[in-house]
Amino acid sequence: MTPASDIDLSACQTVRDALRAATAGLSAAGIADAAVDARHLVAYALQCERTALLSAPERALDAQAMNRLAKALARRAAREPVSRIVGARAFRGLTLALNAATLDPRPDTETVVDAALGLAAEIRVKDGGRLQILDLGTGTGAIVLALLAALPGAQATATDISAAALEVAHRNADRHGLADRVRFVRSHWLEDVTGRYHLLVANPPYIPSGEIGALEPEVAEWDPRAALDGGPDGLDAYRAIIPELPRVLEPHGWAIFEVGHDQAAEVAALAVNHKLVPAPLDWPRLRDLGGNRRCVAVATSGRNPKINLGIGE
Ligand SMILES: C[S@@+](CC[C@H](N)C(=O)[O-])C[C@H]1O[C@@H](n2cnc3c(N)ncnc32)[C@H](O)[C@@H]1O
Repeated sequence: MTPASDIDLSACQTVRDALRAATAGLSAAGIADAAVDARHLVAYALQCERTALLSAPERALDAQAMNRLAKALARRAAREPVSRIVGARAFRGLTLALNAATLDPRPDTETVVDAALGLAAEIRVKDGGRLQILDLGTGTGAIVLALLAALPGAQATATDISAAALEVAHRNADRHGLADRVRFVRSHWLEDVTGRYHLLVANPPYIPSGEIGALEPEVAEWDPRAALDGGPDGLDAYRAIIPELPRVLEPHGWAIFEVGHDQAAEVAALAVNHKLVPAPLDWPRLRDLGGNRRCVAVATSGRNPKINLGIGE
């Protein structure tokens, strides 16, 4: 494989040359989606949108852009994720800044957002009230900000154990004009959370500790350990959060958890052990586009008149 510093840009003058050399170099370094990453990094080097590359293949790269591209390619060839190199990730139409304390938000997590939006549409808020959302372990703020952007009447509290993550989430809220509808609280799960919520969302760390070392370097070496490590069997966070749900959920509220690909049944069983009511695990709303079960939704009571679990879906 090509060593990180060896991607040769010396013959490049135009966007077309740079895309070709960057794709070949990243591919030789073993990067799977080399062409996609090359487009991101050439656009980053030129400080333009990726779409602008297509319309201007003959555009010249000046020395500064070439230098920025060479450095970015060396970092990517050494398996640093594109989002960390460019400092941002797009999630549900929002551009989110990242730092070393935040998980790089994943497309998988859109399933939590979709399930929460579906349930939000069925929750009746008392006259004059507003839909209250609680996001536990907010990281960049991906889930809560996507929900607030889609639900103009809602308000939220977002928590994290990491002060550095909360700072980034706050900046992201400001950037998208959502900061006046979200309160950030540093808390170990529900310890310092007060109030009651119609929707609780959480994508907690759920990788079993012993499996982290075997993940791709982009994850194992770049996502913060606190965002990944779910303890010996991956379920520590669910064990800490689920018993506390009756204290923070409104009577007909819902908690929606992202889970690892094989954890849904165990998380649902934990909820049942605490006299909570999980939605049926085969509910289509809890699956991603590939049909994989990625979420568990839990209610405090099975007698929610507004929710028709699964019928007609
Ligand atoms: C898998 S990341 C999810 C980040 C974000 N919600 C997302 O979906 O992109 C888990 C988050 O939980 C936070 N976290 C870890 N342990 C925590 C704890 N004990 N209490 C609160 N947050 C915690 C981490 O700092 C991290 O931001």
